[in-house]
Amino acid sequence: MTKHMFPMNALRSGEFYESDLFLDRKFLLRQGHRVTPALLIKLKKLGAKELGTRLESLAERMRKRLLVLTQEVRGQLANMRDSLLDEFGVKELLPHDLQEKAISVSAACFADAADGRLDDFGNLWQMAEEIAEVVRYSGGEVLKPLDVPEPEVYYSHHSVNVAAMMVGVMSDISDSVGRIQVAMGCLMHDLGTSQVPKEILFRKGPVSEKEFGIIKEHIDFGKRLLMECGEIHENVKGMVIGHHEKFNGTGYPDGLSGADIPYLSRWFSCCDVYDALTTSRAHQERIAPPIALELIGQCVGSQFDPDCAKGLVERLGVYPVGSYLLLKDERIALVTKNYPLKAYDRPEVGIIDMSSGKPVPKEKVRLNSKDDVVDTLDI
Ligand SMILES: [Fe+2]
Ligand SMILES: [Fe+2]
Repeated sequence: MTKHMFPMNALRSGEFYESDLFLDRKFLLRQGHRVTPALLIKLKKLGAKELGTRLESLAERMRKRLLVLTQEVRGQLANMRDSLLDEFGVKELLPHDLQEKAISVSAACFADAADGRLDDFGNLWQMAEEIAEVVRYSGGEVLKPLDVPEPEVYYSHHSVNVAAMMVGVMSDISDSVGRIQVAMGCLMHDLGTSQVPKEILFRKGPVSEKEFGIIKEHIDFGKRLLMECGEIHENVKGMVIGHHEKFNGTGYPDGLSGADIPYLSRWFSCCDVYDALTTSRAHQERIAPPIALELIGQCVGSQFDPDCAKGLVERLGVYPVGSYLLLKDERIALVTKNYPLKAYDRPEVGIIDMSSGKPVPKEKVRLNSKDDVVDTLDI
C-alpha cells in the first residue's frame, strides 16, 4: 500500500478527512473521524513531524495548505504577538508594573511559606486589593503572561495570572468586596505547593502515583497556612481548599460534587486550568487559547461545572483576544476584541499583512459570521 506523506502541522482540529491517517506506519485516525484537540496535543508531545495517507490528493492538499504558513512565519507571529497587539491598540488586562510587583510579592510569600515563616499576609492582601481595583475586562483587554525565568517561580506567575483572569471574567458577577476575595483566593490557592519537594513538583515527564499523592498534599499545606491567617472569609477558604474538586466528584481532597463544591471554586477550576494550559511551563508547551477552551469543553460535566465553563467561553470568547486565526479568504488575523455574552463567536480581528515576509498590522475588521474563521492557529 502506497503512503503519501504530508507535514503534521497541516492537521486541523475539528476536521474530518476522506482517508485514514498514519504515523510511523501505525494507524492514527480512521477516515471520517474528527481530529480532536487531544489528538493534536498527543502528536505534539510525540514530536510527530509527518503523517501518511493512502490518498495522494489529500497529501497534496495538506502540503499546499501549509504554503500560507511556514514554520518561519509561525515563529515570527509568536514572537510579535505582544507588539502586534500594542499596534492594534489592545489594552493590558493587568498593567505591566502591577504584574511585576504582584509576582515579586507572591514569590516572596512562596519563599516564606517554604521556610515555614509565613505569618503575615498583609502584602498579599494589598496586592489582592490593587488587582481588584485595577482589573476591568470588557472584552478588549489581554493578559500578557510574563516569561517564567525558572521553574521555581512558575507558581507565583500562575497565581497572579489567574487572579487577573478571575477578577476580569467575573467583573459582572462580583461586587468590590467579592473581587478582593476572589483575587486573594487566587493568590493563595497554590501556596501549599511551597511544601512539596521541588524535584517532584517540577519534574519533566510523568510522576508516579506515590508522587502524585505528595503533590495532592498541597491542599492540606494550604489549609494549614490559612489557619495562620486568622479570620479569613469562606470565599477565600473555598478556593484554596476546593480548587481540585471535580464536578462529578472524582477530585480531591474531599471528592465533593456539583453544587457541594463552593461556587467560586467551580469558576476558579476553569480559570486555573485555562491558565495552566495557555502558559509555557517547565514540562509543557503553551496551547493556543481557543484549543484550551475546547479541551475544557470536553471535560464539562466531569471536571467542570457546565455553567461556569460556558460562562468562561461567553466572556473570553470562542477565540480569546491574542488568538491567531486563519480566515476563509486565507488571510491571517489576530483577535483584538470580543463581545462578551453577545457575539462571542464573532470577534473583532486585526488583519496581518504578510506580503513583505514579516507580520505587519493592517486594518481591523469585525467578523460577521462564525464561518469567516476557517481555523485556529496553534501559535
Ligand atoms: Fe493546586
Ligand atoms: Fe493552580
